[in-house]
Amino acid sequence: MTLRLTRLGNVALLLGVLLAATIAGAQHKTGIVVPGEPWRDNRGELIQAHGGGILHLKDTWYWFGEDRTETNDPARRYVACYSSTDLVHWTYRRQVVALAEPEDLGAKWILERPKVFYNRKTHKFVMYVHLDGPGPSPAPGSFGYNVAKVGILTSDTVDGDYKWVRSLRPLDQESRDIGQFIDDDGSAYLIFESRPTKGFFIARLSADYLNVESKVAFIDAPLEGGAIVHYKGLYYALGSHLTGWRPNPNVYATAPSLAGPWSTMRDIAPPETNTYNSQSSMLIKVTGSKMTSVLYVGDRWSPKALWDSRYIWMPLSIDGEHMTLPEPRPWSIDVETGVTHILQP
Ligand code: GAL
Repeated sequence: MTLRLTRLGNVALLLGVLLAATIAGAQHKTGIVVPGEPWRDNRGELIQAHGGGILHLKDTWYWFGEDRTETNDPARRYVACYSSTDLVHWTYRRQVVALAEPEDLGAKWILERPKVFYNRKTHKFVMYVHLDGPGPSPAPGSFGYNVAKVGILTSDTVDGDYKWVRSLRPLDQESRDIGQFIDDDGSAYLIFESRPTKGFFIARLSADYLNVESKVAFIDAPLEGGAIVHYKGLYYALGSHLTGWRPNPNVYATAPSLAGPWSTMRDIAPPETNTYNSQSSMLIKVTGSKMTSVLYVGDRWSPKALWDSRYIWMPLSIDGEHMTLPEPRPWSIDVETGVTHILQP
């Protein structure tokens, strides 16, 4: 009897392991996203698109992000580009940025949170990045993010070599984490965190997207990882508190127009979950024939193994002014209809 139970136990264990392995590989083979599990591209490699941004062109989404591959040249900074027509299976296009230090930023220079905009007038793809580093003469004990600028790069094709253009401080402000927002009318905005003013700016890009032209709003809350979506007549601005790689309870505000007035901040998830151990990076709106869905895209950082940082993508539940991130579970999406389906246990 004892032996039979043990055998049964072993069989159950084996089945459990097989199921876990199937789920872990699921997003590669089937149309299911498993938040927090390794997400692999068409080559079977871990997707390197951390702190990323999405560009939607016709029926294709392009996902750009920090490429933290372990074997990258430590003197350069990399951005990878992937494409997908279903938001689940991602094809590796290439490293679109493999940049040597462009300015006097210091050896431990930083290029983070790349966001790409497509300019319909100039036909250029314009990338904004958070550019930082200790700078030429860092004060003792400074935290290494002293430069606080954006870098701008451009390419003639979506997955071409993005060439360095210049760096700047948007609206003459210190700028660290950046986010992007493209409104339904096609206008393009940069979101950036500004530490001295303890808040974040929403700023309109110039007609050619090569400059940050004007302030649209300043949200009076020190938040980073800023992301915005326009859904059913309301703007939602989401961000995380300033705790570096460590997750914290992310919050959002709403406003009838981008310029405000913005509401006070609310939790997007039960605060004790620290946003289910993730940090906001973008909000993706999928407008289908049956409904519009909004996806939360967050990073679950592994500071000691950044290449193995995971992604938490989940469909949000939005009800009037309330936006809620459900507990991460496997889910699927039909991008034609916009319908998402969260698998129940
Ligand atoms: C986070 C930021 C990340 C990265 C990290 C470094 O606050 O969102 O993009 O800069 O700090 O500590």
